[in-house]
Amino acid sequence: MTIPTKKTNCVRVLLVGDVVGKPGVTMLCDSVRWLREVLQVDLIVANSENAADGAGLTKAQYHKIIAAGVDAITLGDHIYRKKEIASILATELNIVKPANFPSDAPGRDHCIVKTMQGVSVAVISLLGRVFMRPVDCPFAAVTRVLRHLPDEVRIRICDLHAEATSDMQAMGRFLDGKVTAVLGTHTHVATADEEIFPGGTAFQCDVGMTGPHKSILGRAIDPVLNTTLTFDPNSFHVATEDVRLSGTWVDADIESGKAINIGRVQLREAELKQWYSL
Ligand SMILES: [Fe+2]
Ligand SMILES: [Fe+2]
Repeated sequence: MTIPTKKTNCVRVLLVGDVVGKPGVTMLCDSVRWLREVLQVDLIVANSENAADGAGLTKAQYHKIIAAGVDAITLGDHIYRKKEIASILATELNIVKPANFPSDAPGRDHCIVKTMQGVSVAVISLLGRVFMRPVDCPFAAVTRVLRHLPDEVRIRICDLHAEATSDMQAMGRFLDGKVTAVLGTHTHVATADEEIFPGGTAFQCDVGMTGPHKSILGRAIDPVLNTTLTFDPNSFHVATEDVRLSGTWVDADIESGKAINIGRVQLREAELKQWYSL
């Protein structure tokens, strides 16, 4: 894997795609050192909506992920599947709910975290509206959040948790020049469309999944196939094989907040083990 050089006056921010189950959480936590030392990432945001056996995030997992060195956590449609996360969402300053959720829903609509160099980065989460529970307009919600952001916070990362590429592209174009990056999550499948729009906003429809790739979106293949074919109710347990971390990094200019470079990363468990053994 070729690691691109990071220009001076830039920070490299990584959004890690949906972390699925114990294999995903372990892979994420074990990868932090590689992400910092090899990929030269300054700030890590991880979408952790599937951490708890595929749906939700437990308090213990939140603490584990943050203790491992992840800077901020986003979620998605599975945000409240573990009810206990509500108290974390209410009190902690590095985890957000989708900004287009009701104002009374537990959680804050954005957070501001700092890189080790002291550069502030705003993290915003939005939920799409195709095949999702009814939510407020994401365009209006992100406009409201941006209006309240301190002007000096130039680097703004938006995790758009959505099903439809049309939703994602519309939001990417809408926010071009207003945020550093619009990066998709939720489909668990990385797309090959990363680019920087004319206004300086990095964009990609989906950054992929962190978890077992020998699976159907992270769940064991046989039960999902069986239920799809027969309608026989099954529980879809998290798969275990071929664990990978998927995400997308963006190099952002510290002064302007504009994206300078964007790239996908996919790290396999075996590669990580080999790196640790060197
Ligand atoms: Fe997900
Ligand atoms: Fe999702």
